[in-house]
Amino acid sequence: PVPIPVDRDVTQIILDLLAEKPQIRSDADLPQTSQQDVKAALDRLASRSMVTYQTADSEQVLLTKESQTIVDEGSHEWKVWDAVKRNGKVAIKELPGLVLNADVKVGQGNAFRNKWIKKDGDSLVPLVDEVQDTTRAQLQKIAETKSVAEAKTLADLKKRKLVTTSKVFTYTAEKGPKYAREIPVEHTDLTADMLADGSWQTASFKPYNFNALGASQNAGALHPLMKVRAEFRNIFFNQGFVEMPTSRFVDSGFWNFDALFVPQQHPARDMQDTFFISDPAAADLPREDTAAEKAMNEMEEGSRNLYASSDPEKKIKPRDYEQYWKNIQDVHQDGAFGSIGYRYPWSKDECLRLVLRTHTTAVSTWVLHRLAEDPRPARYFSIDRVFRNETVDATHLAEFHQIEGVIADFGLTLGGLQKFLESFFAQIGITNLRFKPAYNPYTEPSMEIFGYHVGLGKWVEIGNSGMFRPEMLLPMGLPEDLRVYGFGLSLERPTMIKYGVSNIRDLLGHKVDLGFIESNAAVRLDKN
Ligand code: PHE
Repeated sequence: PVPIPVDRDVTQIILDLLAEKPQIRSDADLPQTSQQDVKAALDRLASRSMVTYQTADSEQVLLTKESQTIVDEGSHEWKVWDAVKRNGKVAIKELPGLVLNADVKVGQGNAFRNKWIKKDGDSLVPLVDEVQDTTRAQLQKIAETKSVAEAKTLADLKKRKLVTTSKVFTYTAEKGPKYAREIPVEHTDLTADMLADGSWQTASFKPYNFNALGASQNAGALHPLMKVRAEFRNIFFNQGFVEMPTSRFVDSGFWNFDALFVPQQHPARDMQDTFFISDPAAADLPREDTAAEKAMNEMEEGSRNLYASSDPEKKIKPRDYEQYWKNIQDVHQDGAFGSIGYRYPWSKDECLRLVLRTHTTAVSTWVLHRLAEDPRPARYFSIDRVFRNETVDATHLAEFHQIEGVIADFGLTLGGLQKFLESFFAQIGITNLRFKPAYNPYTEPSMEIFGYHVGLGKWVEIGNSGMFRPEMLLPMGLPEDLRVYGFGLSLERPTMIKYGVSNIRDLLGHKVDLGFIESNAAVRLDKN
């Protein structure tokens, strides 16, 4: 059995009315019921062929607040005439005090034109003892009939803001082929019992309501950052990039700094810029990381692209970490691989300090040193979280996401990097790149990237890039003629542009409005 629906009363009233007469009209027979309820009830009955109905629309003329007052109390001119007549003679400047709820100017003008009053010096005197308030009578009639016979009159009244019009629907209903005095008991399910006892043959089933809206689902929502991340991942995957395993937020100074030829006195290694971990006090010496190794192998295999290793054997060959460690010490302290080095006493302790990684380039470094076992053209990318000990403000957080790309190949040139970046950023709607010389300890040359954002109509700083230094690549064991591009940008920046967010704290952290997360649209980077 079906639960009693809300419109049950209206459906029953309609069925009862149709028992009395062959046809009903919603405006005449159901004047108190809303159009919406009438339609819902008729639809319900029509879907069971119990009634048939037609819809007609017409225009209804309605009074405004001003004209309703005229209907209730009299027109402006009548009120002016009435005040003058009651007092016999009224000084013009006193008239406003005697007439309530009316436009005295309009009323006075009309009363003159109707020859109801006249001027006598500075006063007004009545001309007639009785008047016909035709304005009021006209509006009264409109209130009753909800219509105006002449189009010109209607237009005139509308212009004077005395009436408005609105569309109304009238439904005319008749008995349908399955008309009955009541909606029969309806089943929603065909049960085993009904099949067994044969009652299914006579039972009436509730028809499907294909117009019903589904129940709203309390579904999860992707964070805008994750949506934009998905877009970037596609751009990278479409160009043969393999994703790097970035699941490690804590790393050693070795992978985050030293292996990147960042000197131990570099300001970025200061407490002010980097979060150091106090427990455990130090990292192990660099060594095989089987979990990362496994993840990287899977990602390379999964990508099955142009740049995957030709020799699967080589991927699992253990590397000589002792040699790599010594190479790093040499290149910093004494100079090596054709470089004069920084020439300072290199500290092992400093190198083994644990940090919250300040950039995903720490992972790129690990992946590049892994590439040295099977040097070949390769493309890698990552999008993950990094940490900087910064003062939090509208555009800076202590943690954010970095998008990073790395391209290794023989014979790469700086012009090639610029060309690549142009095509990369064009895909997110940023064209006309400009490059500004910059400094990174691990790239030479280095370039800041500026771009013209078509949607914003202005130049924006979008990232940092460069060609990794030999001091970083040669200690890994990569061949001399293999060059490597690197570039990085934040994920927050393009996301803020895309979603029009001006304060980064509205996007990430405890102040984020969940309504914003749930309601924002899917992202199409190329369209804005
Ligand atoms: N690590 C750089 C940053 O933090 C980005 C970058 C990556 C620059 C690779 C050059 C090469 O901004």
